[in-house]
Amino acid sequence: MIDYWEKTVPWTFKDEGLAYRDRRRLRYALQDYMLETIPFGSYRGKRVLEIGSGAGIDSAEFGRNGADIVSLDFTETGVTSTKETLAEAGVRSSNVIRATAQNLPFRDGVFNCVYSFGVLHHIPEVGQVVSEISKKLAKGGDLIVMLYNRNSLLYAYSILFLHWEAGLSEAELIGRYSERIEGCPYTRAYSIEDIPTLLADDFHRITTEIHYNVVDTPHDRKVKIGLSDELGLGWHIIVRAKKRAGNTKR
Ligand SMILES: C[S@@+](CC[C@H](N)C(=O)[O-])C[C@H]1O[C@@H](n2cnc3c(N)ncnc32)[C@H](O)[C@@H]1O
Repeated sequence: MIDYWEKTVPWTFKDEGLAYRDRRRLRYALQDYMLETIPFGSYRGKRVLEIGSGAGIDSAEFGRNGADIVSLDFTETGVTSTKETLAEAGVRSSNVIRATAQNLPFRDGVFNCVYSFGVLHHIPEVGQVVSEISKKLAKGGDLIVMLYNRNSLLYAYSILFLHWEAGLSEAELIGRYSERIEGCPYTRAYSIEDIPTLLADDFHRITTEIHYNVVDTPHDRKVKIGLSDELGLGWHIIVRAKKRAGNTKR
């Protein structure tokens, strides 16, 4: 699992040697709903944990807006890239840690927000990660995650239709073709109906919204389709939830 991610952490642009300013511009131009939708500016003076920080562009966005950002990734590439990005972005109040999401090395109840974009759908032990996150959040703390949408155009057309091969299961197809570089060891796409089951033991006030109307074609990746988000066919589900204040339902 880790070998794949060491080689494929997205948005690093290592070969091109792109500066942070250009990496930031490219990311938020492509994923153009993010700056409006993710509340990067809502955690000034608060503790935010980003799980799977990758190239660190979102960690920098929280940090530039005044959050005490702690970034975590299980690859050396992710940790190094995040450190470089935070330094380039001038974020001082930050900490970057190499660890797995399944065992978060922090005291309980210390974070006001846990954020994770495009990571939890690559972890088979997602239930374990959700309960780790819940432990590390303060009561009433926020969870914000992006998960892939199974009921999307990209899933139906780019993964199932374009790559259909006799003998390969849906699970094998999405693992192989969900990322820019083939062969991701594990990917699961979620329906919005799956989200309460995933979170309801530890979280409440769960909301979902769907964005990012794109497909991969045989020639290009992430080609934008001019559809309304209201149709619910985008590739990204943004999930927000709050940690329950009292005992869990278990
Ligand atoms: C698709 S990338 C997303 C990176 C970043 N969040 C972004 O939006 O660009 C997934 C990241 O999660 C990290 N990752 C995957 N599984 C992990 C795990 N179990 N624990 C910690 N990090 C993990 C990978 O190393 C990689 O940096």
